[in-house]
Amino acid sequence: MTGIPPLVLDRSSGVPLAAQLADALRAAASGGGLRPGDRLPSTRELAAALRVSRTVTSAAYDQLLAEGWAGGRRGVGTFVLGAVPSAAAVPAPRAEVVRVPALLELRAGSPCLEVLDRAAWRRAWRAAGDLPPDLRPDPAGDAAFRTAVAEHLLRHRGLVAAADDVLATAGTSAGVGEVARLLPPGSRVAVEDPGYSRAVGALRDAGVEVVPVPVDDDGLVVDALPDGLAAVYCTPAHQYPTGRRMSAARRLDLVARARAGGWWVLEDDYDGELRFDVAPLPLLGALGPDVVVHLGTSSKILSPTLGVGWLVAPAPLRDALLARRSATGIRPARAGQRVLTALAGSGDLARHLRRLRREMAARREQVRTAIAAAGLATEGDPAGAHVLVPLCDVGTERSVIGAGARRGLALDGLGRHHLDDAPGRRAGLVLGFAAPTRVELDRALPVLSDVLRAHR
Ligand SMILES: Cc1ncc(COP(=O)(O)O)c(C=O)c1O
Repeated sequence: MTGIPPLVLDRSSGVPLAAQLADALRAAASGGGLRPGDRLPSTRELAAALRVSRTVTSAAYDQLLAEGWAGGRRGVGTFVLGAVPSAAAVPAPRAEVVRVPALLELRAGSPCLEVLDRAAWRRAWRAAGDLPPDLRPDPAGDAAFRTAVAEHLLRHRGLVAAADDVLATAGTSAGVGEVARLLPPGSRVAVEDPGYSRAVGALRDAGVEVVPVPVDDDGLVVDALPDGLAAVYCTPAHQYPTGRRMSAARRLDLVARARAGGWWVLEDDYDGELRFDVAPLPLLGALGPDVVVHLGTSSKILSPTLGVGWLVAPAPLRDALLARRSATGIRPARAGQRVLTALAGSGDLARHLRRLRREMAARREQVRTAIAAAGLATEGDPAGAHVLVPLCDVGTERSVIGAGARRGLALDGLGRHHLDDAPGRRAGLVLGFAAPTRVELDRALPVLSDVLRAHR
């Protein structure tokens, strides 16, 4: 066993001890206090040393295993694997290190690069590079980009917007942050719980107070919204991470309440182009153009490396955003806008979306079958690139993630998407199927079935 650096846990902080312990071990691994190859104490030894229960140490180790910082095998021990500051500073792993297989990515959030036509991608970058640089990029975004987005929204999302209504952004989270910075500090903004943690991060970073509101099978529970809000952030087309869509009645209700209460609704339409069954329900942006900020992104349909998204907002809000951009010098980078414009103009984007929809629908079915083979169900609409696999309790969730990591699968639990890890919360896996290649997915799914069957 390796002597591990001193670990300090704060029992009064309100942060779960397991999370504190995982943080401390991660910090030790990235700060050099632990090195790749170091063997960690057993969960029992560490629990005794820290005077915490073994549940705490097991949960922390499971988290590190899931994230790929640690690896190991039952009966052999747990070893520090990775995420180190710089390759030069790190000695080669020692001979006795137990190597787990490279992790196959089954967490949600990544796009599917496999179906991206690389020739079309290269053509678009070349076309983008052909345009001359300009002296003063428009803080609203390129005119051609805004026109291309307006057409995209009409064709793929049924939203009627003029090019002038569209602002380029650096992506959804950046857009959420920009809007939140317009709100008075300390304003209250409701978010879905479970929900998208980066949006929560962007809101908090802007100095607003985040208020968690539950979701159910019909999406955000509008009746549970408290009074006194400045805004609500939600994912109506495909709730992240539960995968449900907001019912039509709730949409109408939400817009009516926003009008009555004088707050904004931030509609995150991150993967609205990926629906495999019925036509999408009307966007909030179409139902309430006077109160809704509709946010779209290229991160899920193409790649986050483009760093580009868009928003459609009521004129006063748009003007305030532009004024702030002018005052601060913030403006979305042009390269991504140009590439997306070129892809849209050549028809390559529409072809890509057709391919992507077909591929995601097929993969979703493959995932559903593999989970059913383990005797479990999947939840979520036929849409997007992830499903929810409900599990019976939080302990099982952690244990499945740990077992998956030991067998080479990077899995994600519902817990990470809750604002606080309350004991009564729902448990489950948020399973993404866009990141792996088809071959990797074929390899990963039988292993996943196996892991789940063992935990039923
Ligand atoms: C719910 C949700 N919204 C938005 C995004 C994309 O955000 P961005 O455009 O900031 O990359 C993601 C990506 O994972 C997401 O899961």
